[in-house]
Amino acid sequence: MNVDERMITYIRSLDRGENERLRSIEQEAVKDHVPIIRKETAGLLKVLLRMQKPEKLLEVGAAVGFSSILMSEYIEPGATITTIEKFEPRIIKAKENIKKAGKMDVITLLEGDALEILKGLEPSYDFIFMDAAKGQYIHFLPEVLRLLAPGGTLVSDNVLQDGDIVQSRYAVTRRNRTIHSRMRDYLWELKHNDALETVILPVGDGMTISTKLTAPAPEGV
Ligand SMILES: C[S@@+](CC[C@H](N)C(=O)[O-])C[C@H]1O[C@@H](n2cnc3c(N)ncnc32)[C@H](O)[C@@H]1O
Repeated sequence: MNVDERMITYIRSLDRGENERLRSIEQEAVKDHVPIIRKETAGLLKVLLRMQKPEKLLEVGAAVGFSSILMSEYIEPGATITTIEKFEPRIIKAKENIKKAGKMDVITLLEGDALEILKGLEPSYDFIFMDAAKGQYIHFLPEVLRLLAPGGTLVSDNVLQDGDIVQSRYAVTRRNRTIHSRMRDYLWELKHNDALETVILPVGDGMTISTKLTAPAPEGV
């Protein structure tokens, strides 16, 4: 992303950091090339959770459990997190990490393809974090909107694709063109769906924050 590296380094230098358990999960994930949320993404999530105090959270894309364990540190007692992962080696690791972190009564890991799993979930969740395959966000969206409570928050990560999103599709490598056009469709939908108010932020690899309206937006807004 086109944000001054020195600025990012400076902002990161002010971070208080996480507890030892989270630090070790993070280090292992980096070593094993498991993609996990960036520090800036974590920072924004933490503030949103403190502000909104959600009781029922849903995450699409658990990987090894880093972000769900992190979020569990910033929610109120009694709040729960359901997270979804389909890649077997990561499921095994996520279960291990959740257990070691002592979060088995807070975090439920659902195993399988999110598209199928989402269809079987009952509304409603007051905070949903979308962090799975970028090309599938647009396909997850109808189920995610069904599951999101009015007044609830949807946060989506990696939406600006290291800046590729502003490139013409021909300037994007052929391999990434489908993801590029699907992510553009996703962002358009988030910004134009009458049920949502959305901001797109150049934080981390690009994040959106959407709130599901409790009443339809007035005409022309
Ligand atoms: C960016 S990683 C998630 C990182 C995690 N949220 C964190 O920060 O600790 C995305 C994960 O989504 C999983 N994933 C991708 N598509 C999926 C799908 N359709 N259903 C379930 N999991 C999926 C991938 O296997 C991968 O582990």
